[in-house]
Amino acid sequence: MNPSCRVIIEEEKMRDKIGFDEWADKYDETVKETESASEYPFAGYKKVLGTIYEKINRYPLSSVFDVGFGTGVLASALYDTGHMIYGMDFSPKMAKKAREKMPEALLFQGDFHAGLPKALKDVKFDFAVATYSIHHLDDGDKVIFINEMLSRLNENGVMYIGDVSFENREKLEACRVRSGENWDPGEFYIVYDEFKKYFPEGKTNFTALSSCAGVTEIFK
Ligand SMILES: C[S@@+](CC[C@H](N)C(=O)[O-])C[C@H]1O[C@@H](n2cnc3c(N)ncnc32)[C@H](O)[C@@H]1O
Repeated sequence: MNPSCRVIIEEEKMRDKIGFDEWADKYDETVKETESASEYPFAGYKKVLGTIYEKINRYPLSSVFDVGFGTGVLASALYDTGHMIYGMDFSPKMAKKAREKMPEALLFQGDFHAGLPKALKDVKFDFAVATYSIHHLDDGDKVIFINEMLSRLNENGVMYIGDVSFENREKLEACRVRSGENWDPGEFYIVYDEFKKYFPEGKTNFTALSSCAGVTEIFK
């Protein structure tokens, strides 16, 4: 990579991190507002997190790695029902909020562009979740990251990606037009009928849960 491109990318990441820190106090409120208005990007947020919660909760006391746990909405619900929670997030303020809800969880501050926390290199998880977080990686980097995550799951492990995502490009385009200037052109959403080709047949599944969101399952 050209060194000047690397500098620009590093500066963008730093801005993102500061942006998430600034958002931390109001994050849950913003989500509620756009969810209850059924608007992009958070229309269906509760259903997305609730669907993943139900699927994992069928397996009591499992270990779960949360990528970009934010204020810990999903992770703390799983924590409260007895699951062992690990996670990473690069925003110190988001991490502080999450730690208050999950004092015993192993939460790391770090950037997922650099992969998983090195301190967990020998730990395997039953499930991985990424809700509204890895859209910061383009398809190529997402696939690399997901494969790294899958390699760290126990046999029969599953990664759940709950996010703005679409069955096909027509649905993404319709949402982009409807959302007007709210649409974020700098995020990379899963378009499932294009994305599934990166994984073996039968190893992925997608469920649409609102006009702009769904859950992608990737089986180890
Ligand atoms: C929109 S919030 C989603 C939070 C939570 N998962 C949820 O569903 O409410 C995105 C989270 O991902 C984190 N994040 C974004 N880019 C990241 C990166 N490159 N490395 C680590 N965390 C990142 C942000 O700090 C933020 O907490």
